[in-house]
Amino acid sequence: MLDKTKKDWWKSAVFYQVYPKSFQDTDGDGVGDLKGVIRRLDYLEKLGIDGIWLSPVYASPQKDNGYDISDYRAVYPPFGTMADMEELIAQADRRGITIIMDLVLNHSSDQHRWFLSAKADKNSPWHDFYIWRDGTPDCPPNDMRATFGGPAWTYVPEIGQWYFHQFSPWQPDLNWENPAMRRELYDMIRFWVDKGVGGFRLDVIDNIGKEPDRKITCNGPKLHQYIRELSREAFREDTLVTVGEAWSAGVEEARRYANPDGSELSMVFQFEHMCVDYGRDKWDVVKPLPLVKLKKCHERWQKGLAGRGWNSLFLENHDLPRIVSTWGDDKKYRVESAKMLAAMTHGMQGTPYIYQGEELGMTNIRLPIEQYDDLEIHNAYREGLARGETPEGAMEGIYAHGRDNARTPMQWTDGKNAGFSQGTPWLPVNPNYTEINAQAALADPNSVFYFYQRLIALRKEYPVFREGDFTLLNPEDEHVFAYTREAGEERLLVACNFTAEEQPEVCPERFRGARVLAANYPDPSGSLRPFETRMLYVKE
Ligand code: GLC
Repeated sequence: MLDKTKKDWWKSAVFYQVYPKSFQDTDGDGVGDLKGVIRRLDYLEKLGIDGIWLSPVYASPQKDNGYDISDYRAVYPPFGTMADMEELIAQADRRGITIIMDLVLNHSSDQHRWFLSAKADKNSPWHDFYIWRDGTPDCPPNDMRATFGGPAWTYVPEIGQWYFHQFSPWQPDLNWENPAMRRELYDMIRFWVDKGVGGFRLDVIDNIGKEPDRKITCNGPKLHQYIRELSREAFREDTLVTVGEAWSAGVEEARRYANPDGSELSMVFQFEHMCVDYGRDKWDVVKPLPLVKLKKCHERWQKGLAGRGWNSLFLENHDLPRIVSTWGDDKKYRVESAKMLAAMTHGMQGTPYIYQGEELGMTNIRLPIEQYDDLEIHNAYREGLARGETPEGAMEGIYAHGRDNARTPMQWTDGKNAGFSQGTPWLPVNPNYTEINAQAALADPNSVFYFYQRLIALRKEYPVFREGDFTLLNPEDEHVFAYTREAGEERLLVACNFTAEEQPEVCPERFRGARVLAANYPDPSGSLRPFETRMLYVKE
């Protein structure tokens, strides 16, 4: 078990993201709950993870599945009670698992009492917690657009003002210019720290320094000033792990966020590697995967943050499609390619995050449009049609990149609703649950699950995973991603065949006869078989 009293314990840790709505339902309402997370802690302990990033469980109208919070200090009743939350923290702790909560600090729900008061009365003490501009109903302050469609301003006739929202009208932006608002947030964070939470994931943190009058959303001039204050005021214990979601971050930016002096955050989720196959936008997917671009992107981050920050490592989350369907082969080579992608990621420097079901090689789903839940998907569909796309054309992007791909219920067994719920699941279960489920994975020593278990254990055993310098091999090779890591006497080689064809072996001289730490085929030697991966190790 990791010593979590050490300042940067999270550099040796592996986290697992739970999206509670889809994880495990225990009361038959078709929605996952906290008791369900508790029930599955043994499974997570077996996998070997050190912490859970819990997507939002706060009171919420669920317009955006909890990323619209109406009370930061209460639990969403279908998920359970505060007592369940306390029980989860305690039970997880007993297994050496730290709970990291999701903090949505850029916006609240429009049903938060602050906003209800703010929009009813210009003189409310909470009015200035949000961003308002005077105006007439036909003339918004400017033409900014919201991420989930439509204008970024909504008019409130009762007070004759527009409010600003970067995501949806149900998610009004909080006004970080207001010190009283910031103080409320810091106090709320301390409330959770006092409950025993070990860290936070900070939703769209790069947006808090927005300046709508200058049309600035991400990376506003005061962004880092705000984050430093937040860190000083709310994250006092230096053992708390904090990870900011920052779609806009490049290497330079990430060095500021993850400054080793601890003045800001532990690390950020950056997305450059996940966007290498985006065309015009995320709905427009470039195939095949531009592997050379992906390799160089990882190289830039691995070298760029070495000793000057810290990387997060991930392939999936609740906003991204299933990786095995995206960069792997979710049919014939599903198991092989899921393992290969895992090895590529877990061999690098940083803190790995596994998204629920990734360790089973869960895949994307295809549903008729009316069966999707996500507001972003429905909006993309509407906008696609408005642009003149055919319904089939609009669906292609959604099949490839829609967020509900990751949100279908966790597949536990081959029984009713994949063992997720006795009731009707809020989102359909992927029909492939009869084959892909945790029960089957646990019974099969060659499953994707045990491969992840092995990768997690390796990170604990060999310092090179944490410390090693990264070197990209054969940068221009379009089929194989291979790199080495070196620290002191330890050398690690990771080779990944991204294709369904054989590729020439990649094995520098000094790795001849090296120990195989992980592989997805028996007898790993000679040319690389379809989606083969090898992790070799020597100590000199
Ligand atoms: C983040 C969340 C996403 C949410 C958005 C708005 O990107 O991960 O799920 O919709 O922020 O809060």
